[in-house]
Amino acid sequence: MKKLILTLATVALTALTPARAQKWEHLADTPQMGWSTWNKFAHHIDEQKIVGVIDAIVESGLRDAGYIYVNIDDCWHGKRDADGFIHEHPEKFPHGMKWLADYAHSKGLKLGIYTDCGTQTCAGEPGSLGHEYQDALTYARWGIDYLKEDWCNTPNQNPIGAYQLMSDALRAAGRPILLSLCEWGTAKPWRWARDIGHSWRTTGDIGPFFNKDQGKADQGRRLSVLEIIQRNDTLRAYAGPGHWNDPDMLEVGNGLTENEDRAHFTMWCMMAAPLILGHDVRDMSEATRRIIMNRDMIAIDQDSLGVQGLHYCTEQGLDFWFKPLKGGDWAFTILNPTQEAVTYALNWQDFNLTDEEVSGRSTDFNHTRYTVYNLWSHKREGRTSLKAGIERTLTVPSHDVVSYRLIAPAGKNKH
Ligand code: GLA
Repeated sequence: MKKLILTLATVALTALTPARAQKWEHLADTPQMGWSTWNKFAHHIDEQKIVGVIDAIVESGLRDAGYIYVNIDDCWHGKRDADGFIHEHPEKFPHGMKWLADYAHSKGLKLGIYTDCGTQTCAGEPGSLGHEYQDALTYARWGIDYLKEDWCNTPNQNPIGAYQLMSDALRAAGRPILLSLCEWGTAKPWRWARDIGHSWRTTGDIGPFFNKDQGKADQGRRLSVLEIIQRNDTLRAYAGPGHWNDPDMLEVGNGLTENEDRAHFTMWCMMAAPLILGHDVRDMSEATRRIIMNRDMIAIDQDSLGVQGLHYCTEQGLDFWFKPLKGGDWAFTILNPTQEAVTYALNWQDFNLTDEEVSGRSTDFNHTRYTVYNLWSHKREGRTSLKAGIERTLTVPSHDVVSYRLIAPAGKNKH
């Protein structure tokens, strides 16, 4: 009898607890790819610029390489109306957001927008606090596909509750919208955001500098590429298909040297990071285009196993990174963060490792002969040997990488 009463009580309680909405699934089975206004244009955005970017993304081949989200960051806002509904800025976006979303869709692209959990965005525009369901509905009506939600002006707010609320609101609004959390890692979103959104920022904002020294003039406001890699590296166990660590948008094409741009892009791919471009795609150099359109490298980022790469060791100042890939292959990158070129004698047998933390996969160099495919020259460079010994001597330029895809023999380790 007691048992029956208990069971009935449980049933009654369960019925009373509102069902938690599920986040929209399968919007980011691999890390999202696209472009955002912020890094290059900041406050200076308008419809004409974004139409130009949409056209350039299509014409340059970026769309076909996978960059499908065009994200409008802060400063698109007009005012809320008497009923609390938000509107786009009437002069910056004269045809309205719906028109812009239709335009992006007509070109095979998707449109993203930006809000904030607090009273105001970081640039002082209206935030979503108290208007979450209304805003989600507005975005859905406009045809928005991606929402970045920032964390400025949120005193006394609980981040878990705040982001869950927007996730629920997006679900209720009925249009699949990817949710990108931008809480800068303050409350460790990797611990709680997996079922709330599709990616979470792990650090403060990136700046267009490779190391801390180069960023000195910025007075610590923004982080360098190397500082971000260091912080993001410790979080690899939390990332996976549908929920990614986000080390911030790319600065490729924004003033780094070509070597640095290549290293930055390679490392974002090694870390299975969202690839959100941040330069003016309407006017980019051939070198920038070549870097961001490297399909072999993009395939490392987009690999369906969805494992963030691992920093295995540092030798002679060089960082050695491995990323297990679907089907038994590995991506292998040597990053040179130092000020000088470094020459290194490579013996694959030094790198027999098992990724205990995430994938359980072993490189197994003493039993597996991989084909070595150079991800930047796009050439095969022989095979790894099963025996110890120096196999090749490599020079890694300062602030650059050497990066290979190690292709497992057919039938080996496949899964
Ligand atoms: C914060 C975010 C940036 C950008 C700006 C906009 O700093 O971290 O990525 O969205 O706000 O104001």
